Amino acid sequence: MSINPNRKRELWNSKTGLILAMAGNAIGLGNFLRFPVQAAENGGGAFMIPYIISFFIIGIPIMWIEWAMGRYGGSKGHGTTPSIFALFWNHPAAKVIGVLGLWIPLIVSIYYIYIESWALGYSLHFLLGSSPEIVSGNVTNVDSYVKPFSDFLGTYVGSGDSVFLRPSSMAYIAFALTVVINFVILLKGISRGIEIFVKFALPTLFILSIILLVRVLTLETPHGNAIEGLNFLWTPDFQALKNPHVWIAAAGQMFFTLSLGFGAIITYASYIKHNQDITLSALTSATVNETVEVVIGGSIAIPAAVAFFGITGAVAIAQSGAFNLGFISVPAIFAAMPFGNFFGFLWFFLLFIAGLTSSVAITQPVIAFFQDEFFYTRIKSIVLTYIIILISVLMVIFVDKTIDEWDFWAGTIGLVVLGLFEIIIFMWIFGGDKAWEEINRHGLIKVPKIFYYIMRYVTPVFLLLLISFWGYDFLPKILNQSSWNIWVSRLYILGLFIFLTFLVFKSDAKRRKI
Ligand code: TRP
Ligand code: TRP
Repeated sequence: MSINPNRKRELWNSKTGLILAMAGNAIGLGNFLRFPVQAAENGGGAFMIPYIISFFIIGIPIMWIEWAMGRYGGSKGHGTTPSIFALFWNHPAAKVIGVLGLWIPLIVSIYYIYIESWALGYSLHFLLGSSPEIVSGNVTNVDSYVKPFSDFLGTYVGSGDSVFLRPSSMAYIAFALTVVINFVILLKGISRGIEIFVKFALPTLFILSIILLVRVLTLETPHGNAIEGLNFLWTPDFQALKNPHVWIAAAGQMFFTLSLGFGAIITYASYIKHNQDITLSALTSATVNETVEVVIGGSIAIPAAVAFFGITGAVAIAQSGAFNLGFISVPAIFAAMPFGNFFGFLWFFLLFIAGLTSSVAITQPVIAFFQDEFFYTRIKSIVLTYIIILISVLMVIFVDKTIDEWDFWAGTIGLVVLGLFEIIIFMWIFGGDKAWEEINRHGLIKVPKIFYYIMRYVTPVFLLLLISFWGYDFLPKILNQSSWNIWVSRLYILGLFIFLTFLVFKSDAKRRKI
C-alpha cells in the first residue's frame, strides 16, 4: 500500500470551474421542488421576507465561513471537518463534533442518490414512451387525474402493505445506472471529473429549465393559467410573518438550497488554491443558486399545477409534499399536454442533472476523508465509500419511513447543529479577528464589516433559537412515533456515527505512526 503523507491534493483548475461546481453543488432538487412548495405553503410572496433575511444572516455568512474553513483546511492537507475543526480548536471534542461533517453527507447521500435515480427512471420512461398515459379534458378532481402517476411513483418508492417496501425492477435498473454515472464522474477526480462535468451540466440545466419555463408560462386550461399561478405564488400574505413556523421554514430552506451545514461546501472549498479569492466567488455561486431558485424554480412546478388544477387544487398538491408535486402532479400535467413525452423527458432529465451535480458533491466528503486521512488512493476511497452507501441503501429501499427519518435527523436538524458548531469554532474559538482576516485573504471584494458582527453574534443566536424551537416543538412529536421500523432506521444511523468516529480516531493513530 502506498502511503504518502506529502502527496499533493487535487485543486480546481479554473475559477469558472470552481464557481460552476459550487453552483452545481447547491442547485438541486431543492431549487425546483422544495422551494416552490415552501413558498406556496408559507405565505406566498410574504415568504420572501424571511427568506431574504435568511440569505443575509444565515446563507451568505455561513457560505463565507465554510469556504474559508475549507480553503484553510486544504492548504494543510485536510478536506473534512474532523481534522479541519481540530486545526482551529486543538481539543479531542473538535474531532468528535467534526464527525457530523462526515455523518450528515453520508446519510443524505444514501437517500439523495436513490431519489435522483427516480428522476432518471422517469426521464427514460418518457423518452421511451412507456410512462402512464393521461387522457386530458376530463379533469373532474385532482385525485382521479393524478392516480396513474401516484401508482407509478409507487413502483419506485415501493409500496407494500407492511413496513417492507417492494420497488419494481425498473427502479433497480435506474438506481444501478445512477450509481454507475456518479461513480464514473468521481473516478476522474476533482478537476478532470467534476469540473469538466459541471461545465457541460450547468449550461444544459439552464437551457432545459428555460424551455420548460417558457412552455409552462404559456399554459392555459379551462381551470386556470400559469400567470394566475405566478400571482398566487407571489401575492404576499403578511399575516404569515407572525407565525414562527414560516421563519423556520425560510431558514431551513436557505440551509438546504445552499448545501450549508453538510460539510460538502467545506470539502469542495478545500480544493481551492490557498491564494485564490473566496469572497467574490462564494457570493457569485450563492447568487447563481438563488436566481435559479427564485426565478426559475418558482416558475415551473407551481404555475403548472395552478394552470391545470386551479389554485385550490395546487394548494392541496403543495401541501401533500415536494415529491408529490414533482413526481406525481407535474408529470401528470406534462403527460396530458401535446408533446407530453418530450416535456416530461425534459423535466425529469433536468431534475436528474440537477441531482447529479449535487450527489457527486455530497459523496465527496467521505471520499476526501479516506484520501486525506488514510492516504488511500482515489479509487480505493471511492470504492469504500460506495460499499458503505450500497449496504446502507438497503435500509432506504426496504424499510418504510427511513427516508423521512434520516432526512429529519441528518438533513434537517443535523445541518443546523453543524452550522452552529462551525460558527462557534471559527468565529469564537479560532477568534473573530483571525477568522475575518482568513475570509478576506486574497479576496477580490472586501466583505462589509457589518457581516463581522452578523457572523459573530446574529447568526449563532438565530441558530440557537431555531434549534431550541425545534426541540420544543417537534421533538416530542418525533419521539412519540414508536413503530419498530422507525427505531431500526434511527439505530442504524447511530451505528454509522459510532463507526465514523471510530474511523476518525483510527486515522489519527495511523498518522502518528508515520
Ligand atoms: N442544495 C441541494 C438542493 O437544493 C441539496 C443539498 C443539500 C446538497 N445539501 C447538499 C447537495 C450537500 C449536495 C451536497 O437540492
Ligand atoms: N423533505 C423535503 C420536503 O418534503 C424534500 C427533501 C428532503 C428532498 N430531502 C430531499 C428533496 C432530498 C430532494 C432530495 O420538502
